[in-house]
Amino acid sequence: MDESIKLAITGKGGVGKTTVAALMCRALSQEGYRVVAVDADPDANLSSALGFPEHIEITPLVEMKELIEERTGAPAGSSGAVFKLNPKVDDLPEKLWKERDGIRLLLMGTVQHGGHGCMCPEGAMLKSMIQNLLLFRKEAVVMDMEAGIEHLGRATAQAVDRLVVVVEPGKRSIETARKIKELAEDIHLSKVSLVANKVRSEEDKSFLREHTTGLDLLGFLPFDDAIMQADMKRLPPWELSPQALDEIKDMAVKLIK
Ligand SMILES: Nc1ncnc2c1ncn2[C@@H]1O[C@H](COP(=O)(O)OP(=O)(O)O)[C@@H](O)[C@H]1O
Ligand SMILES: [Mg+2]
Repeated sequence: MDESIKLAITGKGGVGKTTVAALMCRALSQEGYRVVAVDADPDANLSSALGFPEHIEITPLVEMKELIEERTGAPAGSSGAVFKLNPKVDDLPEKLWKERDGIRLLLMGTVQHGGHGCMCPEGAMLKSMIQNLLLFRKEAVVMDMEAGIEHLGRATAQAVDRLVVVVEPGKRSIETARKIKELAEDIHLSKVSLVANKVRSEEDKSFLREHTTGLDLLGFLPFDDAIMQADMKRLPPWELSPQALDEIKDMAVKLIK
């Protein structure tokens, strides 16, 4: 139970990735983990789901151009240039994140992808950062990813040890999950688990079980008006839906066992 854990939360647009990521951060924090939340979605909103104030100043990693150039040997945004694949970053994290309730938040910013699976100086920085975040046991990294699968470049995916794909009762998000699983296998990331969100009934559960055969379904997160209310009030979901946190905690425990 004391191992470190690095999760990337992914899935189709609007399925609840940010909600699940925030709940996962809170659950792992309450399980005694030192949690680093990484917002890797260019349309960043994990900070609001974690209850950070509206105008926090965190400079996204990719905007630290001088730092990227200094550490990788190539300007951010350059492609085809020679740069260090394992830049030194172990002295950086403290400068780059803000902390609230024991959860530290890091913003990635928008990485301009040069192509499928691109490895650019920013990507190398991110990968090194995530690899270096875990210096102690019982540390957790939870990354909130953008929708889709194109961004699942090698850099990001190789830095984590499990993809958690959020699905909802419906075929489209499950198709996305299967594509993500294939892509993960291509880059030798075998650990992929599913969280079923917005589940309203036993029929929904049967549908999800039936259509996710061969995939590791961690559990069901019910559709809950309180989660929507929390979003409207800009509160973390666990403040209005403690039940949701309990559900995610059960799933987190399965992952850290
Ligand atoms: N289990 C749920 N019950 C009700 N509303 C939910 C649930 N999960 C997410 N939502 C709502 O759905 C919307 C999209 O969720 P979000 O986490 O931002 O998705 P994503 O990050 O995948 O785009 C938000 O308004 C959120 O409050
Ligand atoms: Mg999101």
